[in-house]
Amino acid sequence: MTETMQAVEITQSGGPEVLQPTTRPVPEPRPGEVVMRVAWAGVNRPDALQRAGLYAPPPSASDLPGLEAAGEVVAIGEGVAEWAPGDAVCALLPGGGYAEYVATPAAHCLPVPSGMGLREAACLPETFFTVWSNVFMRGGLSAGERFLVHGGSSGIGTTAIQLAHAFGARVFATAGSEAKCAACSELGAERAINYREEDFVEILKAEGGADLILDMVGGPYLPRNIKALADDGRLVNIAFLQGPKVEVNFMPVMMRRLTLTGSTLRPQSDLAKARIAEALREHVWPLLDAGRIAPVMDSEYPLAEAAQAHAHMEAGDHIGKIVLKVG
Ligand SMILES: NC(=O)c1ccc[n+]([C@@H]2O[C@H](COP(=O)([O-])OP(=O)(O)OC[C@H]3O[C@@H](n4cnc5c(N)ncnc54)[C@H](OP(=O)(O)O)[C@@H]3O)[C@@H](O)[C@H]2O)c1
Repeated sequence: MTETMQAVEITQSGGPEVLQPTTRPVPEPRPGEVVMRVAWAGVNRPDALQRAGLYAPPPSASDLPGLEAAGEVVAIGEGVAEWAPGDAVCALLPGGGYAEYVATPAAHCLPVPSGMGLREAACLPETFFTVWSNVFMRGGLSAGERFLVHGGSSGIGTTAIQLAHAFGARVFATAGSEAKCAACSELGAERAINYREEDFVEILKAEGGADLILDMVGGPYLPRNIKALADDGRLVNIAFLQGPKVEVNFMPVMMRRLTLTGSTLRPQSDLAKARIAEALREHVWPLLDAGRIAPVMDSEYPLAEAAQAHAHMEAGDHIGKIVLKVG
């Protein structure tokens, strides 16, 4: 292993242009960690929030962006028994994925699913950890329930549609164009709602209401989500792209026994993330191994063009995941 590596850093808070190539020392594994030679790194909306100065990395994390990657284990720290140099893994990262090498807890690595390339595997961790923990662990989605996901064509949305469908829920998804709606339907949504033309509240109410809503939009969607929920329904917010502050009538929360909740993945403890990884391995990896579900790939960029990848994501025309070619 060399002592230095190529990476992309956030030079200051701002637009995509603040992402610039740099040279950094190769990280050393701490106890319980592995170091991976990164082949591909996934691009996620939280990377853009961090770049804009709106989502600070936790204190012990790398300041480099990048929350997921796939590649080869090249070094292991003290106490790591489950992985060895040469293993192909994909991993949730505390940060630092936009680089040739990255360190991460061994317990946050998962095997590359059978028959899947590293390019696709790099796009699994951030969305699958987020969707599993929010839709199934926190939201308690079960077979036969009506599930609504906003931003259905996003990295998160395409994952949520496939998983909810695979576990027997009835899936409804909103998206902002006919092409995005078509993608949602192909992935298993029984009803894709073009929110520019249709009202998701009316559509869900006509079906009896949503048992669970996964929302990243917030703002004006908050009171509308409450209206769209069935009795005993749950709303899980994972972002507030249209703002976190809004006036809400809480009476229906009491009268219809609603649950309003949410979470962010990155600040959670290593142990909490390891538990999500274990649950994914048990419940979701068999579906990936069997090819029943797979990440939806939008486009790829070389690492040095991370700024273009962010500009593409923020233009909002993508469907599914954007990935950086590193190795
Ligand atoms: N809480 C967590 O732990 C966690 C973890 C990962 C991601 N997230 C959040 O989940 C969301 C999706 O992440 P992603 O990586 O899948 O992102 P992405 O692919 O860029 O998707 C964002 C989606 O949001 C929709 N949208 C609605 N209103 C928007 C607005 N005002 N600005 C931009 N987009 C808007 C867009 O769909 P239309 O064009 O159809 O409107 C787009 O598909 C992000 O907000 C991200 O921060 C949260």
